Amino acid sequence: MLDIEVQTADAWTRYGAHHATRGTDVPEADRLVWGYWPVSPDEELLGDLTGLRVLDLGSGTSKYAAHLTRRGVQVDAVEASPSQHQRAVARYGGLPGLRLICADAVDHLKQAEPYDVIYSIHAVPYIDPQRLLPALTQALRPDGRLVFSALHTNSTGTGPATVVAARSEVLTLPGAEPLSVGMWVLTPSLWKHLLTEHGLVADRIDVLTAPEGDTPLSCTLIQARRPLPLPPEGRS
Ligand SMILES: C[S@@+](CC[C@H](N)C(=O)[O-])C[C@H]1O[C@@H](n2cnc3c(N)ncnc32)[C@H](O)[C@@H]1O
Repeated sequence: MLDIEVQTADAWTRYGAHHATRGTDVPEADRLVWGYWPVSPDEELLGDLTGLRVLDLGSGTSKYAAHLTRRGVQVDAVEASPSQHQRAVARYGGLPGLRLICADAVDHLKQAEPYDVIYSIHAVPYIDPQRLLPALTQALRPDGRLVFSALHTNSTGTGPATVVAARSEVLTLPGAEPLSVGMWVLTPSLWKHLLTEHGLVADRIDVLTAPEGDTPLSCTLIQARRPLPLPPEGRS
């Protein structure tokens, strides 16, 4: 892990502990919200998940994983921050079909059985893509799908970078000083390049903006897959 990822992990642990102490109420999710607004698409974009191995990467309080589980999907939810994981356990521990895992996502991917679908809502940008993407590719079965949302433009209007480098972003905390986190906020074409470089195919990339257009805040929604291996030459 890079130093900036360690500092970011620490910030998320403080974030989770702060909310746990305050008893912050996290409303139940009745759909997936990829961007910052409850507009389409939602989980329909993941297709039929029945009987598939599904991972929520950077699951936080696991409200989205719990939502899918309640719809009959078996979901593994991996979350690095012990305090965030503990919030998930306090709320959803024992929910049939939901496996809550406290681990760095990359460490988990390296030892997990391959997944059919890996999705991630606003968590991928906190992890060095050069560390994450090789592990993601290996952890997806051929033809398996990766869908994730990632910050594109922040609320002060700073847009994505064209180089693979983390920058500092603000994590607000109610009633306390904000925390600083490192994020890889990259252009759609750079995400596409990185995915391709690591053996994945980017099928579609959208930028989700505010429906009312009243904030520059936006996020990238990326749908990718691990391609099937090419058939051996000479076979018809
Ligand atoms: C913005 S929150 C999103 C949480 C959840 N996906 C949601 O939308 O409610 C990002 C989460 O990613 C987690 N995270 C950051 N780096 C991680 C890593 N290397 N492995 C696993 N989780 C990580 C953070 O601890 C945090 O809980």
